[in-house]
Amino acid sequence: MAEWWQSGIVYQVYPRSFADVSGDGIGDLAGIASKLPYLEWLGVDAIWISPVYPSPMADHGYDVSNYVDIHPLFGSVADFDALLRDAHARGLKVILDFVPNHTSSEHPWFLESRSSRDNPKRDWYLWADPRADGAPPNNWLSVFGGPGWTLDESTGQYYCHAFLKEQPDLNWRNPEVRHAMYAAMKFWLDRGVDGFRVDVLWHLIKDATFRDNPKNPDYSPDQTPYNSLLPVYSTDQPEVHEIVREMRALLDRYESRVLIGEVYLPVQRLVTYYGVDQRGAHLPFNFQLITLPWHAERIAAAIGEYEGALPVGAWPNWVLGNHDQPRIASRVGREQARVAAILLLTLRGTPTLYYGDEIGMRDGVIRPDEAEDPQGKNVGLSRDPQRTPMQWSAEPGAGFSTVKPWLPIGLDAERCNVEVERQDERSSLNLYRRLIELRRRESALQLGEYIPLAASGDLLAFIRQDASRRFLVVLNLGHHSHHFPIGDLRGEVVVAADSFRERERVSGSIPVFGEDAFVIALDH
Ligand code: NOJ
Repeated sequence: MAEWWQSGIVYQVYPRSFADVSGDGIGDLAGIASKLPYLEWLGVDAIWISPVYPSPMADHGYDVSNYVDIHPLFGSVADFDALLRDAHARGLKVILDFVPNHTSSEHPWFLESRSSRDNPKRDWYLWADPRADGAPPNNWLSVFGGPGWTLDESTGQYYCHAFLKEQPDLNWRNPEVRHAMYAAMKFWLDRGVDGFRVDVLWHLIKDATFRDNPKNPDYSPDQTPYNSLLPVYSTDQPEVHEIVREMRALLDRYESRVLIGEVYLPVQRLVTYYGVDQRGAHLPFNFQLITLPWHAERIAAAIGEYEGALPVGAWPNWVLGNHDQPRIASRVGREQARVAAILLLTLRGTPTLYYGDEIGMRDGVIRPDEAEDPQGKNVGLSRDPQRTPMQWSAEPGAGFSTVKPWLPIGLDAERCNVEVERQDERSSLNLYRRLIELRRRESALQLGEYIPLAASGDLLAFIRQDASRRFLVVLNLGHHSHHFPIGDLRGEVVVAADSFRERERVSGSIPVFGEDAFVIALDH
């Protein structure tokens, strides 16, 4: 029997932007709860909620100041329990974001740690002496710009931070840190959460002697400064796998919980996060559909490489968007975003979809005075555009909030919203719904084999099959028409990017127009 996280579909909720019930312009837990009927209608199996813990919000919740509570902006632990109960009653799983690499600089642990060199929590974070000239201990850089170290004037040492200086990195070599973090995970597991998406899992542990990172010979100035070095000693250290194993062992003490890891690494490194004998993460996030150019040959090769690299028995997964990346409809266009939906929901492996992508939301337009994201402010790659409020209806505030929202509503909200799209059979939303419904109904699509087919130009084609059924998926990642010969196969189009093609009988050489994509139920 497959686990729910293998057969199911994960939907990411960015809580600040999903639904605001409290009326402060920021989404909340009650808002998420009010939309559970929608998520049930859509047909997803699990929601992953970005951080809702107490936080000064320097990085919008990825700077946690208490791992075992809920930020009042979002509600309370009681609200969370209620959401969890309601979700479970509807058959929906709830995955929490867990942020173990760093805390907020306002977390009591860090306040203690920085208070003096001999504080018992000094070693909970990464402290090091300045170099002789007063410079930081090594050349590590922060992902969000500037050095990866900040000097604490009063104790005369630097602390390490992979992200903002308000996000000091924990010292995972310290057993007390591990113990405290596992206790926090246990707090939520005991309440019944169905798993965690672990933030920057590959960053967790650093070289014990803080060696300098080497220069990146392929660095080009259009990349952020962080990319000027190769993070050889600050990420993806061999010791990280011991931690992943310990987290997994904790989850294994409960029934059917999932460990998802955020890992941006090349495929051959990524798959090591499944762990030896798969005692690591169940699903190290596979971001290739986000990171690769939208090019059929490149994507076909990447699917092949990934399938080939998976350890025996490891379960694949695919992600099309998240709160850190430009939205798919902006990256490839609205028409291709429909092709992408069919790809995501027919590939072998658990799909994760980002709130709003199902209605074809595009990146918002943010005026400089509306900017929120520290990454955007520091290194110019703002993530605000992909975090604009969910567009529920054509009302002012898009049905998200009755007051001014924390980020502006998308300019197309009058046409691109759940209410309008629900009425329109040809909408992106109804395409998603039909695809999800098909995937839920057909074990061949959920769990069946993946068989690549040779295709040229902009076409991508494969078969998904199990003992019960066979499906042929043909996708045109370009704008030009092609023919795709299917030999003596025959079948019927069951879901198509252009819904007019649904129920069409196909055989011989199939015409595939630009932006076309379809799932064909084969006759045999
Ligand atoms: C990855 C998260 O997805 C991102 O939003 C955050 O800024 C960094 N980790 C730091 O926690």
